[in-house]
Amino acid sequence: MQEAVELDTGRFQLNRLSSAQHRDSLAEDVRHGLMSEPRVLLPKYFYDERGSKLFDQICQTEEYYLTRTESILLKKHADEIIAITRPTAIVEYGSGTSEKTELLIQAAHQQYAGLHYLPLDVCEEILVEAGDRLIERYPELSIDAWHGDFLDGMDHFKNGHKRSLYVFLGSSLGNFSENEAIGFLRGVRNTIKDSDWFLLGVDMVKDHAILNAAYNDNRGHTAAFNLNVLNVLNQALDGNFNKGKFKHQAFFDTEHSRIEMRLLSCCQQTVTLHDIDLKIEFEEGEHIVTEYSRKYTADSIRQLLSKAGFKPQNIYTGNNNEFMLILSSCSEADER
Ligand code: AVJ
Repeated sequence: MQEAVELDTGRFQLNRLSSAQHRDSLAEDVRHGLMSEPRVLLPKYFYDERGSKLFDQICQTEEYYLTRTESILLKKHADEIIAITRPTAIVEYGSGTSEKTELLIQAAHQQYAGLHYLPLDVCEEILVEAGDRLIERYPELSIDAWHGDFLDGMDHFKNGHKRSLYVFLGSSLGNFSENEAIGFLRGVRNTIKDSDWFLLGVDMVKDHAILNAAYNDNRGHTAAFNLNVLNVLNQALDGNFNKGKFKHQAFFDTEHSRIEMRLLSCCQQTVTLHDIDLKIEFEEGEHIVTEYSRKYTADSIRQLLSKAGFKPQNIYTGNNNEFMLILSSCSEADER
């Protein structure tokens, strides 16, 4: 499964999952998704280099409170989280720019010497950029970066480090359905040792106007991010999606407690993906679901973690319950 391992100077190593495999699964996912009812695309395909940059811009908008709020929580509690867990390695699923995790790295750096960081992300460029920055800032840090889908990469994260802190931030868990979320969390639980810790960041249910605004920012970054997935398909599968003929839509679905994001076809049209010989006929107003983003309560996330075999120990929320960080162990505090 793993392709050649690319060794960079000393403290930064980049490991790649096979890109051929990535392209095959993309072709299959897209064919299957676009033929489903409703049509769907997997959110991981948002993140080519442009998509990752657009996501970064979303994070800086006034409306998208998630990143900002999670950073504030991490700033406030990083020292405590590191003092409790004292990791020799931090493993991160979906690391992106690593800016939030840097708060943990920094706290560890201040408390003791030597730390190993294992980030995993679908965007290679962002892994390298983040790695370069961290290596320069933290002379005692070494990095083992993984490029690929964290659902494929689980086993690579079994590691021989003494104490690991596994982190999954940014409410990315929200992209999964309930069953997928439990499956993913069980996967993490099966990967890690009983003495390891798991830090999860998820968004919370709140005023619907605030939720809706976060996915419909004024500057249109979310719309551009959503539409960019059509570029990704055009490039990967020689397609002719015309972004001008689709429209961004996002709304909070109370019943499922999640944001649903869509692309609406502005007219009747036929789109072709040449590489996989797929012709899709869109009616005017027909939609593709491009993302779900689940919102949790303290109770719903505690339940989910418990079902997956974790013991939630500390839950950090801000003053106004916007976002939460949940620190879980794998055994009761008194068994440790
Ligand atoms: C990265 C999945 C957490 O669901 O809020 C942001 C992605 N989509 N704006 C989210 C996203 C639209 C984001 N996650």
